[in-house]
Amino acid sequence: MSNTLPPPRPSELELDAFLAQYGDIFEHSPWVAEGAWKQGFTARHDDPDVLADSMGAILQQADIDQQIAVIRAHPDLAGKAALTGELTQDSTREQAGAGLDQCTTAEFERFQNLNQAYQDKFGFPFVIAVKGLDRHAILDAFEKRLENDLATERRTAIEQIIKIARFRLHVRAGETQ
Ligand code: GUN
Repeated sequence: MSNTLPPPRPSELELDAFLAQYGDIFEHSPWVAEGAWKQGFTARHDDPDVLADSMGAILQQADIDQQIAVIRAHPDLAGKAALTGELTQDSTREQAGAGLDQCTTAEFERFQNLNQAYQDKFGFPFVIAVKGLDRHAILDAFEKRLENDLATERRTAIEQIIKIARFRLHVRAGETQ
């Protein structure tokens, strides 16, 4: 059982207030939360998993260009934006939670090389739900996923983004990260 999202709960909110509260669950892509709200919420949607399923379905049903735009809205892992403090609050917490702010110089360079190789191959950044992973596990997954084809990687990135959204909603419900 998960906690319920705190008041004012999703099912109690008008669109503007809902977006002020939950528009950022998908990185720089409030249209995902908006699409879910427009389908109508009941008290069931005050559960972070139900809300994550509802928002996730909007992203899954979006066309490929919209999906790629959401993938592209994500910052690189251990990238320049992380160094200069330009990440969203959620990304900052997630990247630090995986110890990415503690990379050695060699690990940091490995991330830069992999970020570049991945971007060159697929045209979007590498996205992975980092909760529960340390930077070694992330680097291993990074190298494996670089071998995938474009369609597989697009699908994987979307699944990972929905997983990230689910974790973010659980954090909003007061569960520790
Ligand atoms: N997974 C969890 N947070 C992030 C992030 O900020 N960027 C990327 N690329 N993946 C993530």
